[in-house]
Parts: sequence; structure tokens; C-alpha cells
Amino acid sequence: MTIEETEHEEKSVSPEHECPVTTSFMDHRVQSEPWEFISELHEKCPVHKVPETGVWLMVNYEASKEALLTPEIFSSTVRAAAGHQAEKLRLHQEILSKEGWGHVLTLQRTDPPVHTHYRKLINRVFTPRRVAAMAPNIDAVANSLIDAFEESGECEFVSEFAMPLPGIIITEQLGLDRSQIYTFKKWADAMLAPSMRLLTEEEVREVAEIELEAQRHFAQEFEKRRENPSDDLISALVHSHEEGEEPLTTAELQNLMHQLITGGFETTTSALAHGIWLLIEYPETQKLLRSNPELIESFIEEALRFWSPVQGLARMTTEDTEVCGTEIPSGSMVSVRYGAANRDPEQFEDPEKFDITRNDNGGHLAFGFGAHFCPGASLARQELKSAFTALLERSEWFDFAKPLQDPAHEPSFFLLPLEEMHIKIK
Ligand code: HEM
Repeated sequence: MTIEETEHEEKSVSPEHECPVTTSFMDHRVQSEPWEFISELHEKCPVHKVPETGVWLMVNYEASKEALLTPEIFSSTVRAAAGHQAEKLRLHQEILSKEGWGHVLTLQRTDPPVHTHYRKLINRVFTPRRVAAMAPNIDAVANSLIDAFEESGECEFVSEFAMPLPGIIITEQLGLDRSQIYTFKKWADAMLAPSMRLLTEEEVREVAEIELEAQRHFAQEFEKRRENPSDDLISALVHSHEEGEEPLTTAELQNLMHQLITGGFETTTSALAHGIWLLIEYPETQKLLRSNPELIESFIEEALRFWSPVQGLARMTTEDTEVCGTEIPSGSMVSVRYGAANRDPEQFEDPEKFDITRNDNGGHLAFGFGAHFCPGASLARQELKSAFTALLERSEWFDFAKPLQDPAHEPSFFLLPLEEMHIKIK
């Protein structure tokens, strides 16, 4: 099958992939603020092979959506060990398999029909009812975090609010005590590290050891919940099978934990921090939102479109294919760039304009599209709504207390993790 948009028919097929864009995606600054690079790609090269890694970046909105709907060609069963740090990732898996649980492929790393099986179980866990029941606690956590810095009128927003809010919610849901949030953060960082950046062998060993510590903890929690079910997420997962269905194995449960932790924590932190950044950068929008609080949901969706926390995720091609006039060989790693698709001028009018009154942002891809659409989206939206409602109601104005670091984000191929953001709250 060929993915080819009519709008791109005039672009010639380039088997050798002669892309005129020479900016390097390996540059930390480009990863941190990729907008100029992305805008050039939209114009000249919507499918771009990163010379240093061989990974293809797909930025076109329609082509990305179609790829996400075509798992037979753009498979999610990405063999981690096939990428540009193959050897290191193999070592990582060896350590986990020997002393704990190597990563088996579940949910996000599977295609239908295997994916459909896992997804059915996850959907039983992430019900709208469960999220609605969590809302009062999310409001309370948001307010308690504000209590701690309200008087001083200043805070380092990432560590004092954006990280602990989703951190506490997920820590509690995973059966840990709120006070263990920093242990949990350490586990989450270690789990994310191999996909965030190139690691040295020593770092690989270090992050694998930390992940083993998390696995041992979860294995004990699974056992406890098997015998004594509770109403948290671990228990819901352990008991997600219905009569006649096989329960999830410990290896599968470990992998699902990994996905919930890597999928649900840093992403929400990033969305919260970028929301504040945007309100400070666009004071007119801050004024507008403060005087029209009913715009909160449009603000959240526009912030997700504008600074998408997940900039891209990988698929592996199962056959030679053609996208926007570029041939991608079978067995290639393709990074579908949700964040870039959300700035595609063919899809969004004036995409570089942050506008909370726009009516075309409903179709943004910040939570993905198709079978893998984020099951945590309603939880994330609830966390964002609780947070911004409380922050806006309890303040008159936000401003930066210090300029952001330069580059503002930690290096990452697919996320936008903010190092720190010092703000003043009047
Ligand atoms: C603002 C916050 C969030 C963003 C931007 C986000 C983004 C995404 C995206 C883009 C995908 C699609 C992956 C793909 O196409 O392969 C995804 C999937 C996923 N997300 Fe989220 N997510 C967020 C919050 C959460 C939360 C709170 C949880 C759970 C606690 C979560 C758990 C997952 C899981 C398990 C998947 C895999 C689903 C599957 O493969 O069927 N996410 N997310």
C-alpha cells in the first residue's frame, strides 16, 4: 500500500532521499525548540531521514494519521534492538531478563489483533467512571500543592507542581504511598532514559538496575493484590480478566506498569509546565482566560496542540512504502511526529499562532490517533483542568521569576521535558 497525499503529488520521488534540509535533529537546541526545523520540513521534506540515526521523521498531518491507521505497514512491534543503539538496548534487556523481567511486547508495542486483546483489558481499567471518581482527589492535590508556595509568591513550577501533581496521582493509583513519589520519579526517569537519548554502557547498567528495583517492588504488589484486591489501578489490572480469560502474567503486568509510568507521568508534567509557560509568554491570552474561565478547555487543547508533550513515537515499516513522494524501505524506523503534525499549515490555519479561541484544534494528534489513542487522555485532561482551574482562581497573575534555561528542555528524541521553570505568582 502507498501512503500518498494528493497535496504532495507535485513532490518528486527521491529513492536516495535527497532532502534539502540540513539542520541536524541531533542538535539539542533543535530538539528543544524544533519549530523552525519542522516548518522547513513541512515546506520541503515532510518525510526526512535523520542522517546520524537512519530514523525517518514523518511530519505531515494527513500522512501521519494514515500511518497510524495502517499498522500492517507501520507496525508498533518496534524491535527496540533494531535502532541506532541496538547493542546497548540488547544489554539492557539482558540485564532485566537475567535478574527480573525482560520487556515482553504488550499494548503499545503490539499491533491488532494482539493489541486489541491488551487494549480491551486497559479500557476496563481506564473507565470514565474511574476518572470521574478521581476528580475530587485531583482537585485536592492541586490545591495542597498551591498551599505550599502561595505565601512566598514564587516557586520552581516543575518540581513544586507540574511533577508532583501527576506523580502523586499515579503513585497512589499504583499502590505506593504519596511520600514515595521521589522513588517513583527515579524509577520513571530510569525507565524512560533508553528511549530519550544515547546512553553510555555504564548508564545502561545503571538504569537497568533502577528498573529492576521497580520490578521487584511491583512483583510484590501484584502478589498482594492477587490475594487481597483493592480499588487501585494495580488491582484493577491484576483482576482485569473476565471469566474464561487468562489472567495477565507477571511479565505482562511488568510491561504494562512500564507503559503506564512512562506514558502517564512526564507527559502530564510537560503539559502542565508548558501551559504556564504559554500563559506567561502570551499575556493577552492570560488576561483573556482569566476573564473568561469557560475557555479553560479550549486553552488546554490549544496548549496540547502547540507544545505537544509527546513529539513523536516509533513505528517500524514491514514493507517498502512511499509517503509524500519519498520511498521508505522495509524495516525502517519511522518516528511519527505528533507535535509537528500539530503545526502542519495544511491542517491548521496559521499553526504558529497560539490562539485559545481557534476552532480547528479539535483534531490535534497530541494523544495519538487510531487504535493506540492514549487511554489516559481523560485522566490527563482532568489533571490539567483541575490544575489550571485552581492555579487561575488562586492568583492574579503569573510571570517568570528567572529566564528559562537555554535550551529549556532536557535532550530527548520524543518528549519535551523541562529542566526547571521559576515563576512568580501574584
Ligand atoms: C498530557 C498527557 C499525555 C499525553 C500527551 C499522552 C500521549 C500519548 C500518545 C501520543 C499516545 C499514542 C502512542 C502511539 O501512537 O503509539 C499515548 C498512548 C498511551 N498513553 Fe498517553 N499521554 C498522556 C497521558 C497519559 C496518562 C495519564 C496515562 C496513564 C496513566 C497514559 C498512558 C498511555 C498508554 C498506556 C498508552 C499506550 C496505549 C496503546 O498502545 O493502546 N498516557 N499517549
